[in-house]
Amino acid sequence: MLKPKIEKAINEQINKELYSAYLYQAMSAHAANIGLEGIANWMDIQAQEEMTHARKFYDYILEQGGKIELVAIEKPDSDYQTVKDMFEKTLAHEKLVTASIHDLVYLAREERDYATEIFLSWFVTEQVEEESNVNAILDKLKLIGDGGNGLFMIDKDLSTRVFTSPVA
Ligand code: FEO
Repeated sequence: MLKPKIEKAINEQINKELYSAYLYQAMSAHAANIGLEGIANWMDIQAQEEMTHARKFYDYILEQGGKIELVAIEKPDSDYQTVKDMFEKTLAHEKLVTASIHDLVYLAREERDYATEIFLSWFVTEQVEEESNVNAILDKLKLIGDGGNGLFMIDKDLSTRVFTSPVA
């Protein structure tokens, strides 16, 4: 049985993960609109991964006999000046999600909810990978530029990403 504070915080995290999916889907649509199909593909897969994150939290609440509270998902940004701007916003968003996961771990420890603490460890590791992936793309954008041939190469590179469920 989940303590009320934990149940509320995990429900809020479900909303954050669903918002992340919404945000990356909006970025995918923007990239597709400007002809960057590889980046659209990368963002589309990112959105799918976020749905699996939301689902993992959702399943955990149910597994613990808790109550799911689904609330409205905020409208995401859909205007981006450049591709670099889009990935900088992605990194900034992932940092917020990382902080939110760390707050959850802190709360689980405070509430002596060891099962939730262990469950959250998967997300702590996942966030390291998420931030690292985006940082690697930003490094490339800085090196070869986000216009002309450089952008063409990055777009081609990101077209190879395929969806593999990150949920063990
Ligand atoms: Fe679910 Fe990108 O963090």
